[in-house]
Amino acid sequence: MTPPARIVIAHRGASGYLPEHTLPAYALAHGMGADYIEPDLVLTRDGHLICLHDIYLQATTNVEQVFPDRAREDGRWYAADFTLEEIRRLQAEERLGNRFPRGSSRFAVPSFAEMIELVQGLNERTGRTVGIYPELKAPAWHRAEGKAMEEALLEIVERYGYRESGAPIFVQSFEEESLRRLRELGSELPQVFLMAEVQQYRHFLSAQGIAGIAAFADGIGPAKTMLERQPELIGWAHDAGLTVHPYTFRADQVPDRHDSHEAELERYLFELGVDGVFTDYPDRARAVLDRR
Ligand code: G3P
Ligand code: CA
Repeated sequence: MTPPARIVIAHRGASGYLPEHTLPAYALAHGMGADYIEPDLVLTRDGHLICLHDIYLQATTNVEQVFPDRAREDGRWYAADFTLEEIRRLQAEERLGNRFPRGSSRFAVPSFAEMIELVQGLNERTGRTVGIYPELKAPAWHRAEGKAMEEALLEIVERYGYRESGAPIFVQSFEEESLRRLRELGSELPQVFLMAEVQQYRHFLSAQGIAGIAAFADGIGPAKTMLERQPELIGWAHDAGLTVHPYTFRADQVPDRHDSHEAELERYLFELGVDGVFTDYPDRARAVLDRR
């Protein structure tokens, strides 16, 4: 499949409207016209990939109430210490206080398999091919815990039919080693290297540095402020054959330099020329793109 020219990536689902990384948030993103839907992934104790942003459970679930004695010495409840069956007993909640009311309604932490089945089921019913955009969270940490995320990811995506370079999927990670490991394991799936404004990514921020990313990825996913500061990164990436998908666009967190959320989206999509946006509000990005 050839992706559309510029894509809308629903960041943690339509997380501006419903609790992040829940099946309702993913379903709403599909209905709002997202091209891809993002699950962040971590592993459970019994080796299942689940949709969760943190390696800990306490920020977005009621784990403290359900399993009060299961924190580690650092006071955190790690997903890697719980089985999938135990995680199914938790209530998932929105992280941000200004969004979906905490404690309202009923949400669960989905497995990656459930997420894929939801997207593929909606694809079948609507006739639209919406892709998935999974992020491996903290793969080096998982490996140190004796857990191989890359193998787990490839097993499941291949089982659900994502096998070739043209499959409707991008695999993303902040860790170069993890993306290289996926290639060593034989994966030809599109890969995106995430970058943040911290020291460990500085050596990539030149034409030569960006070109080197093409050895292990098909695109970059920089924090959007990196592009505001250094817009030439986009041209360097394109020259190296890399797509550019900055994160994260939020209608409720518009930087002062932009007059509106739409103005910010237009700046990145049409002036700077990025190839897609990670957004908590996929309907708003869809509308901006559809107006052109
Ligand atoms: O994956 C792109 C973006 O989501 C990275 O940041 O912390 O929201 O996963 P985070
Ligand atoms: Ca992410």
